[in-house]
Amino acid sequence: MTDVASQSSAPDDTRPTLTNRQGHPVYDNQNQRTVGERGPATLENYQFLEKISHFDRERIPERVVHARGTTAYGYFEAYGSFGDEPIAKYTRAKLFQEKGKRTDLAIRFSTVAGGRDSSESARDPRGFAVKFYTEDGNWDLVGNNLGVFFIRDAIKFPDFIHSQKPDPVTFEAGVANRAFDFFSQTPEAMHMVMLVFSPRGTPASYRTMQGFGVNTYKWVNAAGETVLVKYHWLPKQGVKSWTAADAAAVQAQTLGAHTKDLYDAIEAGDFPEWELNVQVMEDHDHPELDFDPLDDTKVWPEEIFPLRPIGKMVLDRNVTDNFAENEQIAFGTGVLVDGLDFSDDKMLVGRTFSYSDTQRYRVGPNYLQLPVNRPKAPVATNQQGGQMSYGRDNVGANPHVNYEPSITGGLKEATYPTHDEQGPVINGRLTRKRISRTNDYKQAGERYLLSDQWEKDDLVANLVGALQQCDRPIQERMVWHFLMVEDELGLRVGEGLGITPDDVRHLPPLQSQTLDEEEQARLANLG
Ligand code: HEM
Repeated sequence: MTDVASQSSAPDDTRPTLTNRQGHPVYDNQNQRTVGERGPATLENYQFLEKISHFDRERIPERVVHARGTTAYGYFEAYGSFGDEPIAKYTRAKLFQEKGKRTDLAIRFSTVAGGRDSSESARDPRGFAVKFYTEDGNWDLVGNNLGVFFIRDAIKFPDFIHSQKPDPVTFEAGVANRAFDFFSQTPEAMHMVMLVFSPRGTPASYRTMQGFGVNTYKWVNAAGETVLVKYHWLPKQGVKSWTAADAAAVQAQTLGAHTKDLYDAIEAGDFPEWELNVQVMEDHDHPELDFDPLDDTKVWPEEIFPLRPIGKMVLDRNVTDNFAENEQIAFGTGVLVDGLDFSDDKMLVGRTFSYSDTQRYRVGPNYLQLPVNRPKAPVATNQQGGQMSYGRDNVGANPHVNYEPSITGGLKEATYPTHDEQGPVINGRLTRKRISRTNDYKQAGERYLLSDQWEKDDLVANLVGALQQCDRPIQERMVWHFLMVEDELGLRVGEGLGITPDDVRHLPPLQSQTLDEEEQARLANLG
């Protein structure tokens, strides 16, 4: 017996005994088994090999985006109504129906572009992903803190993300020239660029951010009638953001400010809350609007489509194992429950394939059997096998029957709902086309004009600071876009870069762009 081992087995020591994963007690965790005290080591040293080879496999691939994040638990409490109306008029989703009804949930907040150990003070959108463990199975609402997105077609996502990630040769991160090269060729990104480079791109904490579903979803009522919806989470703590200087000061001290803030608040019993609000539109293409309701680069004007509260979220518990609960948690936009549905939003459709695809690779094909991902509703499937399977879920009376249909046992289909497939009839020919109401600048311009002076100043300083690191043609095209967004913004950013409207007036619209009448008029009078 070694000295250390004898110390840890003092008779009054009530701590649990260390074992290996086979349940064998570990008598000596300090010394490998060797031939004589100076070695050599022996290959049958199971305890050492098991320990070191598990360590060798401690990392799984980090998320391709949103790698840095933090998870907490809580509950959703329904208000049971939709303003003055019963919510059942719009959706039959069970979690919303009854006033005071609680549904357990997990939430993961994240940054997007950095790696797993990157700074939480970085200028970046924040992920806001909520997993509701409902009685009808899981519902994931995978959103962000800014309400819109950079692109409107999922086919552009890998290119967009490559432009934000490190240089593939030098691995230099945050290269403004790469990011703005992509933005300068992507007019629909202007609304989101303005948000990310404003103070909202550096929230003061996860507790003081709004959350948005961003993409357009549907609700379905008992009669099978559908409406289009957008989700908004409003923090009871208020919205607070940092200037670039605030964020830099925090980053100089710590990379994990937001995780610590959330963790400490929950540990102290200061449970953060958000109210869930919803905007509703009739389910059609709304030709009267100057934007397409399925375009995720746009917000829906609140004066026409008011926010209506439907419940609140309270976070009251921290994770106990970061890897099991934060690294392995897996959200997806395809994870909906009865009463909720997809829209034809071309980003949403692409996302819905991407999430479970990456999770089968990142975590493994049986990721849904892990405790943090497993629904609290019963699961019974004929899926079997694959790496790290816990075994078939709920095999029923005759475990030999792992197929359906069968008259000898096994699982049966659920009773089909009384309604048929829902929503409008769709006709069209297969095509690859941009939507027609692109209107890429208007909402960005309105947002600029509505900002407080300090927010405008911070935005301009941040844009100039980033663009100063870019090639001249990229700078010129960005000034051109900002002049199209709003004269004052374009003039101020141009001034910071030494670029006047006359320097960019000759630039034609991008090949990928069709300007509407208002935009053509703006182009004719640029600056
Ligand atoms: C994470 C794809 C757009 C919010 C991810 C992941 C992928 C992905 C592959 C990693 C998932 C994992 O490893 O578990 C896409 C694609 C998009 C898209 C293909 C566009 C076509 C968006 C948009 C939002 C968003 C518009 C916000 C509304 C998130 C969030 C996470 C995430 C919050 C982190 C989830 C977590 O905390 O685990 N996305 N994404 N994504 N995405 Fe997206």
